[in-house]
Amino acid sequence: MDKLIIHGNVPLQGEVRISGAKNAALPILTASLLTSAPVHIHNIPHLHDVTTIMSLLGQMGARVTLHENLGVEVDAGSVNSFQAPYDLVRTMRASVLVLGPLLSRFGRAEVSLPGGCAIGTRPVDQHLKGMQAMGVDVCIENGYIQAQAKKRLQGATIVMDIVTVTGTENIMMAAVLAKGQTIIHNAAREPEVEDLANFLNILGAKITGAGTSTIVIEGVNELGGGSYHVLPDRIETGTYLAAAVITRGKVKLKNTRPDLLESVLLKLEETGGEINTGQDWISLDMKGNRPRAVNISTAPYPAFPTDMQAQMMAVNTVAEGVGIVTETVFENRFMHVQELQRMGADIALKGNIAICTGVGQLQGAPVMATDLRASASLILAGLAAEKETVINRIYHIDRGYSCIEEKLSQLGARVQRMAS
Ligand code: EPZ
Repeated sequence: MDKLIIHGNVPLQGEVRISGAKNAALPILTASLLTSAPVHIHNIPHLHDVTTIMSLLGQMGARVTLHENLGVEVDAGSVNSFQAPYDLVRTMRASVLVLGPLLSRFGRAEVSLPGGCAIGTRPVDQHLKGMQAMGVDVCIENGYIQAQAKKRLQGATIVMDIVTVTGTENIMMAAVLAKGQTIIHNAAREPEVEDLANFLNILGAKITGAGTSTIVIEGVNELGGGSYHVLPDRIETGTYLAAAVITRGKVKLKNTRPDLLESVLLKLEETGGEINTGQDWISLDMKGNRPRAVNISTAPYPAFPTDMQAQMMAVNTVAEGVGIVTETVFENRFMHVQELQRMGADIALKGNIAICTGVGQLQGAPVMATDLRASASLILAGLAAEKETVINRIYHIDRGYSCIEEKLSQLGARVQRMAS
């Protein structure tokens, strides 16, 4: 398994281009199953998770064509299989996002239960509750969701018991070809939900309210083709800004959107970062100063995102003062803590609260990545630490950050990948 070797304690300086959002590209790719016409999707990030979902679409009989300029064409006109097998879903739970499109267009789906992952049990009960409300018969057999609808899905009013991003996306996709109106109350408001709705509306769907907690979908008989440009990745953006903060550097990120991560930018300013923004760029300058500790409490958008919690904890480990980090979304998203402690971090855990007391300097060490964003926090810590940090199992990082060592090297980091 590949590892990353970082020689830290170098302030990052320079510019990088932000890629398309992983968590928008994945549902947009599965949404292509809703139409028999070809769709063209641009600004697709070059990530393992995206490759996984494209191979799943191919296994279902869709024709997936990669273009050199980060574009993908999907033609789901010849889909002839409605199964998402365990060996694929277990590597990427977002594969469950084929459920809504398959049921809406074909009335049947056999999708492996995603199972849990490092950060939590990750149930899909809300997804299934929404499908059943629209007339789908669901049963769980041998670890698979067996779902079918005897007739066209029927629009319904659905109140989500918990705010769920992919749950909202799955139900929205199922409702697109249903008969009549569907209203989703307590919907997720993440920008990636809005991006999916914008894509579907280009294909002929009738969705209003995406990005708010109430989404209304008027069912249509069929969708056509179209092309779409995926929005920038707000978590990749926040991660590189946090890398500038922890190394006391100065960076400029291009091809991004400051309006997607206002809560993150405000927290980064609290650390002492001087932030300037334009329509499609963000710069941050620490002026060589040590960051100040910040308190973080994660919650659904537009509050501080759970996907940036580990990265900000890394910043707190070397910041001036004490930072309290509270994780309210996932039950086990502190896997990075013990690895950071091995690098000299002073973190005390109390349930879903981490109390970080900043130290003057972290020490490089061999560490283990456990999940995508925990890996990112270890990279940030390695960039700030003195001497060498070796991060094992970086296949986790390759799921969510494209060309990470190239982009970090562009910013002056001393990082290399070693195959082992
Ligand atoms: C999406 O996951 C993202 N993934 C996650 O990003 C992100 O951390 C998460 O939303 C929260 O923002 C994609 O969009 C592909 P949830 P999702 O359903 O939709 C509970 C990353 O690092 N829940 O919003 O799976 C669940 O247990 C990944 O890029 C139920 O109880 O997360 C959790 O506590 C990690 N029942 C909470 O809701 C359900 O049916 C939020 O989960 C569904 C969810």
